[in-house]
Amino acid sequence: MRLADKVAIITGSGSGIGRATAELFAEEGAKVVVADINLEGANQTVQSIRTAGGEAISVEADVSKEGDSCNVADLTCSEYGKIDILVNNAAAFVFGRVEDATSEDWDRILSVNVKGPAFCVKAVIPAMKQEGSGAIVNIGSISSIIAQPDYVPYNTSKSAVLNFTRCLAMDLAPLNIRVNTVCPGVTHTPALEKFMEEEGMTLEEVSSRLNQPCLLKRLGKPREIAHGILFLASDDASFVTGTSLLVDGGYTAQ
Ligand SMILES: NC(=O)c1ccc[n+]([C@@H]2O[C@H](COP(=O)([O-])OP(=O)(O)OC[C@H]3O[C@@H](n4cnc5c(N)ncnc54)[C@H](O)[C@@H]3O)[C@@H](O)[C@H]2O)c1
Repeated sequence: MRLADKVAIITGSGSGIGRATAELFAEEGAKVVVADINLEGANQTVQSIRTAGGEAISVEADVSKEGDSCNVADLTCSEYGKIDILVNNAAAFVFGRVEDATSEDWDRILSVNVKGPAFCVKAVIPAMKQEGSGAIVNIGSISSIIAQPDYVPYNTSKSAVLNFTRCLAMDLAPLNIRVNTVCPGVTHTPALEKFMEEEGMTLEEVSSRLNQPCLLKRLGKPREIAHGILFLASDDASFVTGTSLLVDGGYTAQ
């Protein structure tokens, strides 16, 4: 088991990629703190982990609120005694052209996707420092790297994640805390289902049109992204920091 005796906080793990990651981490022996703004979703993830024989607790938290991030770190330490891993997975999805984005849109996307991870990292540093080690995985996207039509707010926030990761890797290396990013390609999650509904697109249209550059010609599965996150969070990646791993079926290869 690659995460035996490890304690992991995963934000946004009440759904999609976060849930798949929480389930995989628990299978690999981690005690998982399932933090989500949607407590019902978080409870479902915990239920699924416990049914499979794993260990997890849920906590309601809005990562854009610094106090909530502190509560998650405090709860983790009081329940499990330490924090080894943080996965910054929670995200808001605000798309559109720059002419359409309101001040509220910008506040929302930057608060959840950029300030949120920063608050969570700040909250876990004392416990990781005390432990003498730590691994942080931030979730970016192919949208961190490429331009996509009518995606300005989301892609701006996701590109910030890459340099956030590099700067943190530099500052936290003396504390033996590694920081990396996983950049998923188009993945079949509830967020994608919602996008399809809003855009009036079918699954076939998403696969063939939106996901056209994907070399493997299919959507990713949350579990496939979770395996990339597991690698960077585990000691298998003990000499890896400040980098990003694309798990995108070759979308960005050409
Ligand atoms: N699905 C894709 O195609 C895709 C592609 C690239 C990157 N990503 C990234 O993967 C991550 C997970 O996406 P997903 O598709 O699984 O989404 P999802 O909507 O299925 O899950 C996101 C979870 O985050 C939670 N959340 C939202 N705002 C929050 C907040 N302020 N505080 C705490 N929790 C909050 C939601 O309640 C939800 O449970 C995101 O960072 C997303 O940007 C997804």
